[in-house]
Amino acid sequence: MPLGLERLFEPAEVGGQTCPNRMVLAPLTRSRAREDGVPTALMAEYYAQRSGAGLIVSEGTVVSPQGASYARVPGLYSPEQVEGWKPVVGAARSRGAIVYAQLWHVGRQAHSSAQPDRLPGWAPSAIPILSAQYRSPAGRIPFEVPRELSAEGIRGVVGQFATAARNALEAGFDGVELHGANGYLIDQFLNAGSNQRADQYGGTFTNRIRFLAEVLDALGEVIPLERVGLRLSPSSTWMDMQDPDKRGLYSAVVRLASARGLSYLHLVEPGIAGSTEAADARDTVVSSAELGALFNGPLIVTGGHTAESAAARIEAGTADLVGFGRLFIANPDLPFRFQTGAELEPLRREGLYAGGAAGYTDYPHHPDNPHSTRKEDPLCALSTP
Ligand SMILES: Cc1cc2nc3c(=O)[nH]c(=O)nc-3n(C[C@H](O)[C@H](O)[C@H](O)COP(=O)(O)O)c2cc1C
Repeated sequence: MPLGLERLFEPAEVGGQTCPNRMVLAPLTRSRAREDGVPTALMAEYYAQRSGAGLIVSEGTVVSPQGASYARVPGLYSPEQVEGWKPVVGAARSRGAIVYAQLWHVGRQAHSSAQPDRLPGWAPSAIPILSAQYRSPAGRIPFEVPRELSAEGIRGVVGQFATAARNALEAGFDGVELHGANGYLIDQFLNAGSNQRADQYGGTFTNRIRFLAEVLDALGEVIPLERVGLRLSPSSTWMDMQDPDKRGLYSAVVRLASARGLSYLHLVEPGIAGSTEAADARDTVVSSAELGALFNGPLIVTGGHTAESAAARIEAGTADLVGFGRLFIANPDLPFRFQTGAELEPLRREGLYAGGAAGYTDYPHHPDNPHSTRKEDPLCALSTP
């Protein structure tokens, strides 16, 4: 093993379970589910290929049809979806990884063309995203003015999160990760720029955090909170996530997560805008280490990490586990490659979001890897000890 990387291969305790190593498959939307959000056999193959991670966080998985913005993302709201997830989760944990489902509601990042009633999506306030555009099948188009959720509507969405968490356990997941990052619904409630409500869900930090707190209350009824992780992107202004006091806001959120005894805190590092590097460095910088120090439990950091930077963070005590997104897409056997110092495959844009096997399950394992997936038997990693 290359010198200095040993810490990555140590086990870690997460939510009362042991991850065999400290590398996390970051949540990655790949849009290979069926149109009705039911996971597919191709997804099982993809997760089996990446099953050498210590912790696997599923791709964003929607809690309701209203919570989706793009075609072919999986859900956890129907019995067929629960059944469809079972072999996928089994494949993901085939080499000892702990497997969490990322629960997702896109809020105002939805579009009427993908909503069941063909009306705009739901959000804390009727404020559209202006700095980015919606990726429609015909190309990029402006985001719409979303519909403002009523108090009753909020209760409904809270209930959807709880149902999805219960379904996740039934599907075999070890726990769930709440997607509170990247400008989606939970983040929209947190940031003042997207939440101008005059009721108990808007205004003060306490009020803007109330939606998340109520989701946690509801989750606590169906799943131990030590099996619930929380993902945040405190430094990101992507998708118009504006707030005059990001440091104060996210410190308050992390204190809540700590007080509730959540499984882990998963922070997207400063400088990352959604799925890539921020175009400029104007984003606020709220250091992950500073926020992590407020959380009494494992800290995961994701964003731009290499084997060396990840191991250095663990060694310095400023992270417990490290997530990898793009490197894990292009290198299904990333832990093996880190361990042996093997060369890394480059990421291809083709097939990143949607399509079939190309750009999804056709990235090779390293030829020296004993778990190497042969072309004619792509699931052989499952039967390899
Ligand atoms: C194709 C793609 C899909 C992504 N989908 C999700 C997602 O569903 N949920 C999420 O929280 N982050 C998502 N992300 C962000 C990644 O989890 C990660 O934070 C980001 O890629 C930065 O990490 P990296 O530098 O290791 O790639 C996605 C990123 C990419 C490239």
